[in-house]
Amino acid sequence: MKIRNSSIKKSIHFLKKNECIGIPTETVYGLAANAYSNKAVLNVFKLKKRPKNNPLIVHYHDIKRLQKDCYTNNSFLKLYKKFCPGPLTFILKLKKENSISRYVTNNSNNLAVRFPKHPITRLLLKKLNFPLAAPSANKSTSISPVTRKDVIEEFGTKIKYVINGGRSKVGLESTIIDLTNKPKILRLGGIEIEKISDTIKLNLIYRRNKRNKYPGQSKLHYSPGIPIRMNIKQPKKNSAYLLINKRKKNNKNFFYLSKNRNLKEAGKNLYKILRNIKKKRYKLIEVEKIPNISFGKVINDRLLRASTK
Ligand code: TXA
Ligand code: MG
Repeated sequence: MKIRNSSIKKSIHFLKKNECIGIPTETVYGLAANAYSNKAVLNVFKLKKRPKNNPLIVHYHDIKRLQKDCYTNNSFLKLYKKFCPGPLTFILKLKKENSISRYVTNNSNNLAVRFPKHPITRLLLKKLNFPLAAPSANKSTSISPVTRKDVIEEFGTKIKYVINGGRSKVGLESTIIDLTNKPKILRLGGIEIEKISDTIKLNLIYRRNKRNKYPGQSKLHYSPGIPIRMNIKQPKKNSAYLLINKRKKNNKNFFYLSKNRNLKEAGKNLYKILRNIKKKRYKLIEVEKIPNISFGKVINDRLLRASTK
């Protein structure tokens, strides 16, 4: 990936003026703003139409900068060494003398932090003297964007600038682990929980909690706004059918997440395909059975939420 100096310069220009910009990450595109500025952070909530009680993830370049704002612990250090930069978000305790805008966490002392891997965003973070608060760059409850074009589709001229970083490589949001207490998985995502469990020698399991206090972890989220039926062998005539196995016969309503059961590839394609199906105005989405392992677990989780009424 070639990094254009002009896009870094433009980004810095807008961010210093407390404006939001679109940034590429390996998971999905983010709507980024200066995490140390109340004004900038409030702009994110406004643009995204996000309820103020749904906290944001703060993106840092490295652990040294993070430690100005947060306490770290042993589990964090092990996971950081193994997976960062990468698609893993940690909930950590804020230090008393932190500089994070109180709007980021809705006044709580727990902060979600992440070290994104995309080279352009890493260079941008390196050059800034503040970290970036960034939710996924879609309107609340809608589908996460995985290209610059998707972000522009969501916000039009309301967003000042979106860096072009190509298509997001993982295509699903980061895994979230709460380390403020006994380690707990809050969201499935780009790093498989089996790998996290191995690293910190704990058998972590994930429970989908319908009454979770954070909207992104509760029902109806990541939604294309179309009913979804799962584990379907024979689709109806006019529904959009998501598959992971190649069929002999072709059909214009077939949308392949993968043609050879590659779950990583399927994860990468999920949001792009859901966006496409929405544009084509299908009334129903049906999904072939997707094995509930590795990234299949994440895909099933997102589809289940999207299908919750
Ligand atoms: O991959 C990602 O994580 C992407 C990219 C842009 O980094 N970001 C992302 O942000 O998915 P967002 O805002 O769409 O989802 C963040 C989730 C929300 O469900 C929010 O409730 C939760 O993280 N969250 C944020 N701060 C939290 C905290 N202090 N405690 C618990 N959950 C938190
Ligand atoms: Mg989101």
